[in-house]
Amino acid sequence: MNKKITIAIDGFSSTGKSTLAKQLANHLGYVYVDTGAMYRAVAFFAMQRGYISAAFFNKESLINSLSFIKLEFKFNASLGFAEMYLNDVNVETEIRTIEVSSFVSKVAEISEVRAKLVEQQKQMGANKGIVMDGRDIGTVVFPDAELKVFMNASASTRAERRFIELQEKGDQVTYDEVLKNVQERDYIDTHREDSPLVMAEDAVEIDNSHLSREEQFDAVLSLVNEITKTV
Ligand code: DC
Repeated sequence: MNKKITIAIDGFSSTGKSTLAKQLANHLGYVYVDTGAMYRAVAFFAMQRGYISAAFFNKESLINSLSFIKLEFKFNASLGFAEMYLNDVNVETEIRTIEVSSFVSKVAEISEVRAKLVEQQKQMGANKGIVMDGRDIGTVVFPDAELKVFMNASASTRAERRFIELQEKGDQVTYDEVLKNVQERDYIDTHREDSPLVMAEDAVEIDNSHLSREEQFDAVLSLVNEITKTV
């Protein structure tokens, strides 16, 4: 039998990382972890506590409350993936709003937040057989991952995909707002001091602007098959 490996999927926001990661995890029987959901849950916690708004951000209070944040993924068999729980409450819907998206990069800049989440992520992957997606998985969380994929697509393609998704959910948002949010997050994610978004030297880059989901999945699956033959 093929040995289980660690698969790190990083890249810009709305590049379809989680779609690919879920497909791979389901196909391989691996655990899937969406680390963006963890940063989103922390941003949602900060919103609930009134630490962050469009006008201000009380970082100190968030840092001092980190020990009160419990994050868990619980598998939902009818959906076929794990949902995010913040302090025992399912927040899967709440963390996907444009409001949370507009605050999350600021929360993800904080080193104390990153240290807490990275430690939990490392523990989740201790037994391999995991597909984890995020921004720093191949560089910080699992620098020794057997397969690292870095996903990219133009900002307009990504904004269009995200806009359609939000519209389908009934979110009242314009394309321009979504594009602005994508561009702002790209900027903050690539310019922050702690663990900025960069492609790991040994990652395989996939620009999926013109690839279908199936083409992308097949390309990555053949990489997995190559690697699991040799480990
Ligand atoms: O993947 P996403 O769009 O749900 O991620 C939400 C935000 O969290 C994104 O703006 C950057 C941040 N993030 C991060 O800094 N490191 C990760 N490993 C995952 C997400």
